[in-house]
Amino acid sequence: MFGKKSGIFIQMTGLSGAGKSTIAQETALLLRKRGRKVEIIDGDYYRQHLCKDLGFSKEDRNENIRRLGFVGNVLAKNGVVCIMAAINPYEEIRRELRLMGDATKTVYVNAPLELLKERDPKGLYAKALLPDTHPDKIKNFTGISDPFDPPLVCDLVINTAKDSIKQSAMKLYKFIMKNT
Ligand code: ADX
Repeated sequence: MFGKKSGIFIQMTGLSGAGKSTIAQETALLLRKRGRKVEIIDGDYYRQHLCKDLGFSKEDRNENIRRLGFVGNVLAKNGVVCIMAAINPYEEIRRELRLMGDATKTVYVNAPLELLKERDPKGLYAKALLPDTHPDKIKNFTGISDPFDPPLVCDLVINTAKDSIKQSAMKLYKFIMKNT
């Protein structure tokens, strides 16, 4: 490709608070220093725009990931390193995204649920664990009252209980450099 680097679409998967967005941001800094074009497709952000009609049922989560994957693949085809930071909890939709093209790689950002409940920087786990009658309760919260399929197929596992954010970002950076 005349010295040009190819694009890639990283579909992250992992529970809320595992570190997906932060790792994506740190990795983007490293890649941009090397002159790479990077787009982070963040679930929280896209849910305010392209996916604002969607909720958290299985159908809506899959539709959310399908749209994010579509955008990611288009960008990857145009040479962009695209990192999707979304919970992406269902194996069937991860598989669908892998079938979109060879540019798709699956990265599992893993941390034990007990640790995430302790960390809980956004207070979401605490809200998910409130009694059903409480007005602030978050229903269908992944890992608490909604399923998360651990990935059957993945290209890289990042364990944020063991590695710091910087170490995790370095792993993802090296993986991307090797695969583009
Ligand atoms: S996904 O399941 O469709 O991939 P996505 O990553 O876009 O989810 O959005 C997850 C974010 O939405 C969480 O980080 C959290 O801030 C917020 N959120 C609100 N309600 C829920 C819920 N019921 N389950 C999970 N996340 C929720």
